[in-house]
Amino acid sequence: MAASVWRRVQAVAGRQLRVPRPHSRSAGRSSVGAAPVADGSEEPDLPNKATAKTFSALQAERHEQAERTILISCPPNVTEKKFYNYLASYGTINKYFFYETFGIYALVEFSGKESIEAVQRASTIPGLQHECAVPFKSRFFNLRNNHLGSQTAIHPSVHRLKQSVIPLNELLQNISEAKSIDEQLYTVLEEMQLTEENTRLRFLVCSLIKEIAAAYFPECSIRPFGSTVNNFGKMGCDLDMFLDLDGISGRNKAKPGGAFSVEYQTKRVASERVATQSILSVIGECIDQFAPGCTGMQKILNARCPLVRFSHQPSGFQCDLTANNRIAMRSTELLYIYSTLDPRVRALVFGIRCWARVQGITSSVPGAWITNFSLTMMVLFLLQRRNPPIIPTLDQLKGQAAEKDVHIIESHDCTFASDYKMKSSQNTETLEDLLQDFFEFYGSFAFNNMSINIRKGKEQNKPEPSPLHIQNPFEQALNVSKNVNQTQLDRFVRAARESAWILQQEGLKHPKANPWGFSALLLPNSQTSMGKSKKRRRQPASERIKNLLDSLKANKQSTDSLSRPNGHQKNIPIVR
Ligand code: GTP
Ligand code: MG
Repeated sequence: MAASVWRRVQAVAGRQLRVPRPHSRSAGRSSVGAAPVADGSEEPDLPNKATAKTFSALQAERHEQAERTILISCPPNVTEKKFYNYLASYGTINKYFFYETFGIYALVEFSGKESIEAVQRASTIPGLQHECAVPFKSRFFNLRNNHLGSQTAIHPSVHRLKQSVIPLNELLQNISEAKSIDEQLYTVLEEMQLTEENTRLRFLVCSLIKEIAAAYFPECSIRPFGSTVNNFGKMGCDLDMFLDLDGISGRNKAKPGGAFSVEYQTKRVASERVATQSILSVIGECIDQFAPGCTGMQKILNARCPLVRFSHQPSGFQCDLTANNRIAMRSTELLYIYSTLDPRVRALVFGIRCWARVQGITSSVPGAWITNFSLTMMVLFLLQRRNPPIIPTLDQLKGQAAEKDVHIIESHDCTFASDYKMKSSQNTETLEDLLQDFFEFYGSFAFNNMSINIRKGKEQNKPEPSPLHIQNPFEQALNVSKNVNQTQLDRFVRAARESAWILQQEGLKHPKANPWGFSALLLPNSQTSMGKSKKRRRQPASERIKNLLDSLKANKQSTDSLSRPNGHQKNIPIVR
């Protein structure tokens, strides 16, 4: 991270982080709408920007924006000027950008919906020689080049933004240039967080899926939740969507007075779960059959939370569509609020998630591993327990709730202040302190009998024998980490202890060492990586630490401090 960026980061300590990206990998990717764009629109809030906007105001803004947006598959030799001039003939373009997945695509945001109708009127259903096109008219188009000879470029002459996750070696290189562990963690955040363009693409996909569902339920909406919108999303994370039928059900509608009232005749089914399953099944079928670009449909309707899963190929997103999932929406908003209260929250969460992924503690496939959601709760819990605290407990957030914030969902109290105004925290701890304490705290936490509870900000007696117990903040009888088995918890504890020990080593604290600081925690750990045999895991010392010792020697750093923790160091044992 450039020094100027770092100065800004320090200047906003205690407030929400507002970070430009001059030298980050994402810097080159965020040039939305190049020279020809007449951009009079206000820039919507980036996920990392300071914002006075509430979660719901921000979501509404992005939804509206997505409805004025189209997705275009471009010819391979597309040139930016011709592309722009052609599309601008349909109306004023607010923003556009190109990206590449399996081909070149462009996202184009018009200033009015009438421009999209004009594009649709001008578009035709393709005539195919050996197949037949399903005549579904969406906002996803092919741009055909009718005059092949007129485009001189052999290769596309457009700037294409990457939509993929940064490779580990590139990340390590970037963070090795930082001057402190705090700077390293802010760099990880910068490099891994969702870009503005990726967020726009996510809202556009929700909006395209809504058009399918709206064929049956015209007043529905498809809302993203989870890491896409909770401010903890990294590039490449899945797209969690929620089919919201509340506008239709009239759940929140006041009963009219008078002698009569009318209601709809409806089919009746045994339970809300059965209704959800049948709706998702039908919508899933339509997405599979009609939605261009959606492939690999799986219906996972018997899960605790029924869902359909598919991939949206043009964006590269793995999509999970659920319905009747309002509590998850509330936990998403809760995480969003926490993310905005102090810049250290996001930086520490991203750092811990990145560390856990490299260590093989989390995985992209479902299983008995700790999830990103659980890890985030663990970080929040730690930050609530600081002295003075960095963030409030959920009960404190509830204490400041206004009437509009009261949400009781299926008899669960999901109330908290949606625009909590926190006095600047008196806590001045560095991210380095917090990172160290995360590993020490969880390296010696009494997981066998205590539960993590962000509602109270205190550990509590475990109500049931799951190895890891993190109380669901809203459905308080549930454990968000019920899936985690003892082996995975042990692996987490072992990695936390090792990392605490590594961070204590003076020789690894200086940018001259290679690797140093947070980078030293990101070396792939053969001892703890998933799928290794038990025999291997019991090796007397981790290869990672051995490698670090070698690198320290190679860097001619003092090896004195590499002895086992002594009187000056906190007593964290290395797990053998
Ligand atoms: P990544 O997808 O891993 O980046 O993180 P995520 O936060 O999106 O997690 P995931 O896709 O697994 O889940 C999406 C959202 O569902 C989470 O952000 C939570 O709001 C909610 N969620 C996930 N797991 C649980 C759980 O066990 N209990 C509750 N109450 N909510 C959950
Ligand atoms: Mg997710």
